[in-house]
Amino acid sequence: MGDIVVLRLGHRPERDARVTTHVGLTSRALGASGMLLTSDDKSVAQSIERVDKSWGGGFWVRIGIGYRSEIKKWKEKGGIVVHLTMYGINLPDCIDTIRNEFKAKSIMVVVGAEKVPGDVYQLADYNVAVGNQPHSEIAALALFLDWLQQGREFEKTFRDGELKILPCEHGKSVERK
Ligand SMILES: C[S@@+](CC[C@H](N)C(=O)[O-])C[C@H]1O[C@@H](n2cnc3c(N)ncnc32)[C@H](O)[C@@H]1O
Repeated sequence: MGDIVVLRLGHRPERDARVTTHVGLTSRALGASGMLLTSDDKSVAQSIERVDKSWGGGFWVRIGIGYRSEIKKWKEKGGIVVHLTMYGINLPDCIDTIRNEFKAKSIMVVVGAEKVPGDVYQLADYNVAVGNQPHSEIAALALFLDWLQQGREFEKTFRDGELKILPCEHGKSVERK
């Protein structure tokens, strides 16, 4: 199984901070190892890193990256690029092929905010729609990650955290290390 990294395009600090933070938290919770952010918004990186310090796992965030050069480097290293867009091939019609590639290759998942630059559709190996209707990058990302990993993301252990939830049917139980 390869690695999963999420690339977040087009973040506008004044409008998208909360959604981009949730893109990062969702990526971390559902099996990705890091997030690349085209914006240089430090506050988003800091809040995700704070969560990772408390809850473990070693998720990383890199800000201020250039999407073209990151995609190029990723492909040169043998990784594949999946761009989530409502205009793409519907998830059930392409997930088997992508899963097959994921057995040996790492995946970069690209999500947008505002209008996505046209060349992203050409740079991506797969343009995937999570239903051909407009909705949210967080929902699209969560569903894609789950379909890709078929639930195995829930088996992941988050090492070296300060806090760990002890699941219980009622109430809250948290172990502090
Ligand atoms: C709120 S949308 C805005 C998209 C923008 N209007 C455009 O034309 O590219 C932000 C992001 O959510 C994701 N998204 C929204 N609906 C989606 C869908 N049905 N399938 C896959 N991704 C979707 C895409 O990554 C998109 O770039």
